[in-house]
Amino acid sequence: MDLFQVLEKDHRSILSALDRLSETTDRALRTRVELLTKLKETLELHASFEEKILYPTLASYKEAKPSANKSRQEHKRIQKQLHRLTKIPRNEPEWETEFKMLKAQIESHVKAEERSIFKLAQTLLSPEQLEDLTTRIEEDRKERGESGLRRKPPQT
Ligand SMILES: [Fe+2]
Ligand SMILES: [Fe+2]
Repeated sequence: MDLFQVLEKDHRSILSALDRLSETTDRALRTRVELLTKLKETLELHASFEEKILYPTLASYKEAKPSANKSRQEHKRIQKQLHRLTKIPRNEPEWETEFKMLKAQIESHVKAEERSIFKLAQTLLSPEQLEDLTTRIEEDRKERGESGLRRKPPQT
């Protein structure tokens, strides 16, 4: 998988966790807690790579800087909303309202990223830079015990 396939795969799993969470009711508290924990883990892993590696690389290009900054701001808003949500008891009606807000924020961020940030990265970065980022995401996942990437076996 290349860099964008890995990132887009994360996006799909984040969106699917959100969909599954929106189907839970306040009677399925345990499922809600488990899904939310999973969502937080995936988001954290994904966002930390984007913030530490992808956005700074892009921000060194004038044309990509505004998008990188905007994405970073969106991460902050999502983080705040996630924090707010974790403070609310899972069986309160308010939880659903705040969850819907979080879901909308994440969905719009993912869409914007795939339409703008990833496209910019594909246009601006050289094949060597992209290869380097792929290696770095792979190392990042290995360090954290996640197998996000599987290298092709060496050709003999
Ligand atoms: Fe992001
Ligand atoms: Fe992303």
